[in-house]
Amino acid sequence: MNSRNKHIPVHETGQEGEVEVRIKTLREEIEQHNYNYYVLSAPTISDRAFDERMKALQDLEDMYPEYADPHSPTQRVGSDLSKEFEQVEHAYPMLSLGNTYSEEEVREFYNRTVRLLNEPFEIVAELKYDGVSISLIYENGVLVRAVTRGDGTRGDDVTANIRTIRSIPLKLRGNNYPGKFEIRGEVLLPWAEFDRLNKEREEQEEPLFANPRNAASGTLKQQNPAIVASRKLDGYFYYLLGEALPEQGHYENLQIARSWGFKIPDVIRKCRDLQDVFDYIAYWDRERKSLPVATDGIVLKVNSLQQQQQLGFTAKSPRWAISYKFQAERAVTRLNSVSFQVGRTGAVTPVANLEPILLSGTTVKRASLHNADIIEELGLRIGDDVYVEKGGEIIPKIVGVDVDARPMMIGDQVRFVTHCPECGAHLVRREKEAAHYCPNETGCPPQIKGKIEHFVTRRAMDIGIGPETVEDLYNAGYVKNIADLYTLQIPDLLLLERWAEKSAQNLAASLEKSKSVPFERVLYGLGIRYVGETVAKRLAFAFRDIDGLKQATFEALTSVDEIGGRIAQSVLAYFADERNLLIIDRLKTYGLQMATDGKIPVSSGKLKGLSIVISGTFSNHSRDEYKAMIEQHEGKNSSSISKNTDYILAGKNMGPAKLEKAVKWGIRMIDEEEFLNMLAL
Ligand code: IVH
Repeated sequence: MNSRNKHIPVHETGQEGEVEVRIKTLREEIEQHNYNYYVLSAPTISDRAFDERMKALQDLEDMYPEYADPHSPTQRVGSDLSKEFEQVEHAYPMLSLGNTYSEEEVREFYNRTVRLLNEPFEIVAELKYDGVSISLIYENGVLVRAVTRGDGTRGDDVTANIRTIRSIPLKLRGNNYPGKFEIRGEVLLPWAEFDRLNKEREEQEEPLFANPRNAASGTLKQQNPAIVASRKLDGYFYYLLGEALPEQGHYENLQIARSWGFKIPDVIRKCRDLQDVFDYIAYWDRERKSLPVATDGIVLKVNSLQQQQQLGFTAKSPRWAISYKFQAERAVTRLNSVSFQVGRTGAVTPVANLEPILLSGTTVKRASLHNADIIEELGLRIGDDVYVEKGGEIIPKIVGVDVDARPMMIGDQVRFVTHCPECGAHLVRREKEAAHYCPNETGCPPQIKGKIEHFVTRRAMDIGIGPETVEDLYNAGYVKNIADLYTLQIPDLLLLERWAEKSAQNLAASLEKSKSVPFERVLYGLGIRYVGETVAKRLAFAFRDIDGLKQATFEALTSVDEIGGRIAQSVLAYFADERNLLIIDRLKTYGLQMATDGKIPVSSGKLKGLSIVISGTFSNHSRDEYKAMIEQHEGKNSSSISKNTDYILAGKNMGPAKLEKAVKWGIRMIDEEEFLNMLAL
């Protein structure tokens, strides 16, 4: 323990009170900034200043553990503690809503309410958020528990994970909240974060999340709150429960809950009549596409709590509320065949080949079937009429089969292949994974070609050829692994179709140039499963050269920052395979970089997931240098400002159009000093 963190008992310092007050003040101040930033999207201090306060608080808490508090903002970062979730009974069951799909059904709901109440009432219209429902319990202004819906009666206690969500208050603001109450809402993964996550997963060859809801639910079920913290979940709230709510109306209560620090959507409206309701539906059916999170309908609620009570519940849902689901874009078409595609890592993906059909503006010919379990569940047969939907998903999916339309003489039941369609190897299914894999890594054509394609990409060896060239070289029998690339001879290339002196020389030059590509990129280029760019950098930095890495034990690997068991296993498996060792030896002989020059800039990950626009002129570094820094720390440098822009790195003479947009959308502007400090901390 270093001296800074040495514990000095408070009674020996003679400053009881002082430390406590300082800690308390810092906590309050930080929570205020969290609120400004995450709820109001209107920060009042720079990130650097925020981080400094956070660090000061962390230091004080380290020094004076007697003032530890699970509600401290430092606890939001998430710990590595993992445990199974405990099941908790809901004090009020978590019911679902009756669904309607037409204006007619909405009208019926309205008219039924008129009949049952037989007195004037107000209807509140809200958006229906498509995430994971959550119930938060607050006692004396402090979040004490967060429980998932579960089976409606009992749910999983996911408090540790929920605590990591910055927009969810751990302590409430103000003092007019009831001593005990529950607030319900939806945990959502914003579109931008969903895209980022899937891109990352694609890079790591992990199965993609089909939609933000699945991603949010998968994230909430993580046993490691640190992982949850790294994915920017958000929480929107829409329902208060408790004995002593401040107001008589649902709408009014939500407005007050907003002042306690909750993110209460401001699109909630009181409707005067049915026409207002229909206008709201029509408006949001159009406009919802520009929202940062997924919605799948609207919810109508009788406002008065007293009237809600009067209307009561059926066994499954309240009589005082109903949801109207937006029409998912869906079509019926024929399933012609199913093909099985083998990817670079050998993962086998089933793809449905469909009779082409128009769906929300694009022609759909293929749909993902994801995995064997989904095929089984659908009970698909070739020739079936299938329902195809493009909801929140990027890739259209088959959601069902029109069994009634099935002719007597229907085709075969679709079964997942048992052998690799490319090389014939027997497929394997790893424990707890939904995907099937072809284990024949070095003998299966798409895996071989995929590995070579990956090796030559810009971010790896930057050898200027694309998949078609790799295909040609492979088909000609010239290249069967990445090392073979370095044995290519110009006269051999000239024998191939479409190859001329110039292109052959270009390739030779690129290959030569690739010999000075730094070790971490060579390591990334090897295509070891789960070793993406960042992991490759960390490994290269920790073990210095390929031999060091080859000899690393599981313990040594996992002791590297951010290298977990899964990655370690994969690295060990790679070096345990003689064929890989042979390739590495050859690459070494050809002169590729197999050791670091000691200057690997390891990403701090500080800008991970942030979209940053550079504007104006700078004095400390050039624009290109700033761009490189953003990318090195895993941020995204975009050229134009959008609502998804997190920061504008603003220099002198920033363009007026950019400035106007930045102000209009409340995007944070930082100068170069602030930016550099962000990275320095
Ligand atoms: S009110 C007793 N309001 O939809 C009803 N629910 O099918 C309490 N949902 O489980 C729910 N947006 O997860 C309500 N504005 C909203 C909602 C909403 C999404 C979800 C929620 C609930 C399901 C009901």
